[in-house]
Order: sequence, then C-alpha cells, then structure tokens
Amino acid sequence: MAVAERDPHTGYLTTGHEWNGITELNTPVPRPIYFFLITTALFALGYWILMPAWPLGVTYTRGLLGIDQRTTVEKALQEAVLDRATWTKRIEAESYEDIRSDARLMKSVRETGRALFGDNCAACHGMNAAGGPGFPSLTATSAIWGNDPDAVAETIRVGINSTHPETRTSQMLAFGRDGVLPPKDIDAVVAYVRSLSAAAGDIPPQAIDAGKTVFSANCASCHGDEGKGNKELGAPDLTDKAWIYGGDAQSIRRSIWGGRQGHMPTWEDRLSPLERKILTLYVLDLGKAGR
Ligand code: HEC
Ligand code: HEC
Repeated sequence: MAVAERDPHTGYLTTGHEWNGITELNTPVPRPIYFFLITTALFALGYWILMPAWPLGVTYTRGLLGIDQRTTVEKALQEAVLDRATWTKRIEAESYEDIRSDARLMKSVRETGRALFGDNCAACHGMNAAGGPGFPSLTATSAIWGNDPDAVAETIRVGINSTHPETRTSQMLAFGRDGVLPPKDIDAVVAYVRSLSAAAGDIPPQAIDAGKTVFSANCASCHGDEGKGNKELGAPDLTDKAWIYGGDAQSIRRSIWGGRQGHMPTWEDRLSPLERKILTLYVLDLGKAGR
C-alpha cells in the first residue's frame, strides 16, 4: 500500500491505491454539479407544491396557485366571444362612414373580410381581388356598378344575371353574331373603342371617325356619349385601363361580336347580412385609393 501522493502529470492527489504500478487519481465531483442537482431538486419540489402535478386516478393535485390551463383557455375563449360580439354589433349598427373611419374596427373587418373573401369570392375574383379574364378586378378605381357602399352591397346581395328575382342584369348585345352591325362597322367601332383608352398612334384617324359614328348610333345609349359607361346598366367605362374581358383589339372585337353576359351569384341566401356588410367594407377598402 503506497501513501497518497501528488500525480506529477495532472497535479491531482492520488487515492493511494495502486495496482501493479497503476495509481488511482482522486478527482472529486465539481461543486457546481452539486449546486445544480440541489437547485433542480428544490425547483421540482416547489413546482409540485405550487402547480398541478400528480395524477390521482380521476383527478390530480391542483397545486397552491390553482392554475388550470383549461380554465385559462375557457376564459380566453369567453373574452374572444365577447370581443367579437361587441365589434360585430358595432358593424351591424354603425354607418359605413363611421366604421371606415375607425381604425380598430377596420382591422377586424380586414381580418374577417379576407377569410370570407377567400372562401366565397376568390374563386372568381382572385385571392387578391385582382380579377382575371371575365372577372373584374375589385381593386380598380373605376367600378362598373358604382363605388358607393350601397351599390357594392346591392351587387353582393342580388348578384349579376343571377337567379335572384331582383338581380342586376348585364346585357352586352352580340352585334356581330346577331347581325346587328355589318363587319365593316364592327372594324370601325373596334378601332374607336381602342382609341378611347390607348394611345391611338397606330389607328388611322378616318377609322376612328367612322367608328365614332357607329358608336353614337349603337353604343352610346348604354356606354354613354363619351364611352364613360353607365352604372345603372352595368355598362363599363371604356375609356379607362380597367377591362373585364381585355383591352386588346381581339378581346374588344370578341366583346362586340359575341356580346357579354357576366354572371355573379346572389349571396343573399348564402351569407348573413353581417357577413355581406363586412365584405362590402372589405371590397371598398381594397379599392379605397380611388373611392
Ligand atoms: C362565379 C363567379 C363569381 C363569384 C363567386 C363572385 N363574383 Fe363578384 N362578379 C363576378 C362577375 C363575372 C362580375 C362582373 C359582372 C359584370 O359583367 O357586370 C362580378 C362583379 C362584382 C362586383 C361589381 C364590381 C364593379 O366594378 O361594380 C362586386 C362588388 C363583386 N363582384 C363582389 C363579389 C364578392 C364580394 C363576392 C363574394 C361574396 C363575389 N363577387 C363572388 C363573378 C363572381
Ligand atoms: C344594352 C346596353 C349596351 C349596348 C347597346 C352596348 N353595350 Fe357594351 N356592354 C354593356 C354591358 C352591360 C357590358 C358588360 C357586360 C358584362 O360584363 O356582363 C358591356 C361590355 C362591353 C365591352 C367589354 C368591356 C370590358 O371591360 O371588357 C365592350 C368592349 C363593349 N361593351 C363595347 C360596346 C360597343 C362598341 C357597343 C356598340 C356597338 C356596345 N358595347 C353596346 C352594355 C351595352
């Protein structure tokens, strides 16, 4: 048996045990480890006492603090329902102007409106309401049926060429297919319509003049003398850059040749008055730049 001595390589004392020349170093567990073991044990003990911890058959130890996640969640849900009830009541009761000038209400409108729009309208108008061929953009500054809240609400309520008895009707005649106008007049009026919204550099002036005559006689009754449209009839403004069916020569020709009857369903049976009001506010908000 050798006595404890200091190991020259590591600087530790040896335990004094030696087996065939191999000595054992005396390296005790570092103090911080004891410290951690004791604090975590104390923490666990405190946690058992204060918080719900041990399952006891059908119940559990509730802890001195009485914290219960189920009641916390129930309380949060109740608050959310109450909160929703207050803001939806205000949406139902207040005027469009008052709601639109209330930033907090509009925040709720945008959140709920976006979900309602995604579920019901995006299939045709696109998720961002930018529209597509045959479906108007709802973010445009010009609106076919009017841009005041009542007009938008009415469009959503009754639809366009829908099954609703009070539906809006949108009828663009098939001037070519039904033989109302000879092809020569159609060529001319296509040129004229293009000149209304685009730089008319490539369109011969005499074609535009001829087209203007055809337009005054056949189109102005719905689209207006200057082609600015008629919101009562849903006849679009032909002088702006917003097109339902496209503003290139071919699309314009197709609109005039074959006519157009856009279809939008009625939402009166499918959405509640509150939901429709939220959607009206949402749509107005999308295009508010020009409205
Ligand atoms: C089946 C396709 C379809 C669905 C779904 C649809 N729309 Fe439309 N919507 C149309 C079409 C097509 C028009 C344009 C009709 C026309 O030619 O005048 C239109 C027009 C509109 C207009 C009038 C635009 C203007 O410039 O005056 C509004 C507002 C509108 N939709 C809102 C909605 C809302 C809100 C929803 C969801 C509740 C919805 N639409 C769902 C097809 C649809
Ligand atoms: C009875 C009313 C009426 C008359 C007359 C009429 N239009 Fe229209 N026009 C409409 C309506 C309504 C629409 C929208 C159709 C839809 O989307 O449902 C429309 C759509 C159009 C479009 C498509 C616009 C777009 O945004 O894509 C063009 C182009 C057009 N008309 C040109 C003409 C020309 C040119 C004439 C004359 C030859 C004419 N219209 C006569 C009612 C009329």
